[in-house]
Amino acid sequence: EWTPEAFVDLTVEDLKKQIGNEKVVLGLSGGVDSTVAAVLLNKAIGDNLYCIFVNNGLLRKNEFNSVLHQYKDMGLNVKGVDSSARFLDALKGISDPEEKRKKIGNTFIEVFDDEAHEITDVTFLAQGTIYPDVIESISVNGPSATIKSHHNVGGLPDFMKLKIVEPLRMLFKDEVRRVGAEMGIDPELLGRHPFPGPGLAIRILGDITAEKVRILQEVDHIFIQGLKDWMLYDKVWQAGAILLPVSSVGVMGDERTYEKVVALRAVESTDGMTADWVDLPYDFLQKTSNTIINRVKGVNRVVYDISSKPPATIEWE
Ligand code: XMP
Repeated sequence: EWTPEAFVDLTVEDLKKQIGNEKVVLGLSGGVDSTVAAVLLNKAIGDNLYCIFVNNGLLRKNEFNSVLHQYKDMGLNVKGVDSSARFLDALKGISDPEEKRKKIGNTFIEVFDDEAHEITDVTFLAQGTIYPDVIESISVNGPSATIKSHHNVGGLPDFMKLKIVEPLRMLFKDEVRRVGAEMGIDPELLGRHPFPGPGLAIRILGDITAEKVRILQEVDHIFIQGLKDWMLYDKVWQAGAILLPVSSVGVMGDERTYEKVVALRAVESTDGMTADWVDLPYDFLQKTSNTIINRVKGVNRVVYDISSKPPATIEWE
């Protein structure tokens, strides 16, 4: 019978044997998989694991700093790299969703490659690849093409010539969570909703500016914090807000306003392949809508997305 305890013991021993005294670099995302992979490797090789956590400027409000602190508190050897300006610059004027993804993927690889070069004599690249990623990657590209397939790059950057270590490649998501819990990782971190790599870029329809990111971060924060306060967060598989490229007329006092519309989305799902919109309580939606409109300058209308997947996708882009 598979148990997280036995998995941790065996894997730590295997990693020690496989890696010895060599150095490993790993990109942390704030998500469950990369975090669990890092904690396992840290148990096996300590500070010979070099973690890099990149701020692409498209994370949730305060997320970069709070997660970076959390990683440090966990004893991980982690470097936070704030590249927000570089990503925003790369995205300037781009509205097409796939083009956004490509720009973000390529910029991430440039930043990561620069940082990996700072570590002398690194020989391994660790990834938080889990079993469903392996299957997907084999069917599309053959094995070990995970980063490449996710980011659609041409020539291989230097860090991709490193030997690959993927301690979670035989696990499903629920097993990864159990392994994380076994190692004492904060349940709140393990219970986080999925969040896409391109982040808020694919929830800002149309082109991206620093101001739009700021507005969406505020709206998203009110929504997500509200779900937590109302004990709804754990009942939802994924939730977030979308900034629409639409202005609508409103009134404030005697003034006519002409401001942005945001959509809220919350779905139930098991694997993201299909999803149903969540029937959130009306009083919660009412309260959240009022708070957003009162607090977030530039937004005067909130709508709730009642589309299921298929045919709608979870993200709007
Ligand atoms: P869709 O929108 O396709 O999303 O129904 C299904 C799940 O995948 C996530 N998603 C992404 N994750 N890079 C990612 O890392 C992406 O480009 C991307 N697009 C969608 C989405 O958040 C949902 O969990």
